[in-house]
Amino acid sequence: MAATMISVPKNMVLRYTMDVFKNYGLSDEDAKYAADCLVQTTMWGIDSHGIIRLLIYSQRLGNGALKASPNIRVIKEFGAVALMDGDGCLGYIGAREATKKAVSLARQFGIASVQMKNSNHFGAAGLYAREAAEEGMIALIMSNTPINMAAPGSKGPVLGNHPIAFAAPMFDGNKPMVFDTCMSEVAGGKLLVAKEKGEKIPFGWAVDKDGNPTDDPAAGLAGAFLPLAGHKGYCFALMEEVLTGVLAQGAFLNTIGHLFKEPTKTSYVCHHMLLINPLAVAEKADWMRDMQELRCQIKGTSMRDANAQLIFPGEIEEGVAAKREKEGIPMTETLFASLNEVGKPFGLAMSL
Ligand SMILES: NC(=O)c1ccc[n+]([C@@H]2O[C@H](COP(=O)([O-])OP(=O)(O)OC[C@H]3O[C@@H](n4cnc5c(N)ncnc54)[C@H](O)[C@@H]3O)[C@@H](O)[C@H]2O)c1
Repeated sequence: MAATMISVPKNMVLRYTMDVFKNYGLSDEDAKYAADCLVQTTMWGIDSHGIIRLLIYSQRLGNGALKASPNIRVIKEFGAVALMDGDGCLGYIGAREATKKAVSLARQFGIASVQMKNSNHFGAAGLYAREAAEEGMIALIMSNTPINMAAPGSKGPVLGNHPIAFAAPMFDGNKPMVFDTCMSEVAGGKLLVAKEKGEKIPFGWAVDKDGNPTDDPAAGLAGAFLPLAGHKGYCFALMEEVLTGVLAQGAFLNTIGHLFKEPTKTSYVCHHMLLINPLAVAEKADWMRDMQELRCQIKGTSMRDANAQLIFPGEIEEGVAAKREKEGIPMTETLFASLNEVGKPFGLAMSL
C-alpha cells in the first residue's frame, strides 16, 4: 500500500532538527550547520541523504558513536596538503572544517588537498563541493563508506559505494555546476526511502544476501548494492578508497564501522577535499565566458524530443529546491512520526 504523504514547512523541520542536535550536546553553531545540511539536502530532493538521516544520527549521538564536541584538528601539513583528525565527529562538522581548511590552502597555493580521518558519514558530498564552489573553487569531494557494494562476480559486498562530488563555479551569478553521485547504481539511501514508502526497487540496484537479484529494498539493504557500470564503478570505488582511507592513514574496507548494522560503533570514515582555484591560471572573465559557452553548447544540444533539453548537472536539485521552498517538504506520515519520536525525550515535537 502506498504511503500517505504530507507536506511539512521547511522552517519547522529546520528548527526542530537544530533543537534535536542541540539537545544531543552540539554547540549552537554546529547544530545549526548540521540541521542546515540535512534540510538543504532534502530541499534539493536528495531524500536519501536528507532529514531521514536524523533518525540514525540521533541514535548514534545518544550512544556515543558520534562525539558532540570533538577535537577536530590538523595533524600534518605540508604546503598545500593537510591531514586532519575528525576525532569521531558527526561527518557534517568534520567535512565543514576540512572544506574550510582546503579553501584557505587553495587561496594560498592555487590547489589544496585536505584529507580527514576518524570522521563519520557526511551525507551528500555535494554540500561541500557547492560550499567550495561558492568560494570560487573547483572541487572534488570524496569519502569512503563501510563495505556495502558488490564487485563483478563477488558473492557479497566487497567495498564501499563511496560518494564523490564535483563542482565548478560559474562566476556569473548562476549556481555552480555540481555532479554529486556515488559508485553504486544508486545510493543505498534510495533503498531506505523505498523501504520506508513500501515501494519495490528496480532489479539492477542490489542483490540479496545470497547474491541473487532482488526488487525488495530490505533484501538489498541486507545484501549488497551493485556497482555502476560493472567493473568501472568497482574500480572507481577502489580509486576513492586509495584517495581517502589509505592516503589519510585511516580506516578503509573492513575497518570502517557500518552506519546501520553497527549503530554503536564509530565509523571512522575518511574524507578528501581536493580543490583547485581556477583563477590561479585563468582570468575571471575568460573562465566565466568558457563556462557559459560549455553550458550553452550542452543546453543547445538537439534532442530527439524537440521539447526536451539536456540537463546541466546540478539543475535538477535547484529546480526541486525552488518547488519545495514554495510547497513545503513532502514526507510520509510514518517518517514525520519517526522524526517526532527522536525529539520526544527532550519534549520537542513538530505539529502541523
Ligand atoms: N556519505 C555517503 O556515505 C554517501 C554514500 C553514497 C551516496 N551519497 C550521496 O547520495 C546522493 C545520491 O547519490 P546517487 O549515486 O544516487 O546520485 P544520482 O545517481 O542520483 O546522481 C545525482 C547527480 O546526477 C545529476 N543528474 C541526475 N540526472 C541527470 C541527468 N539526466 N543529466 C545530468 N545530470 C544529472 C544530478 O544533478 C546530481 O548531481 C549524493 O548526494 C551522494 O553524495 C553519500
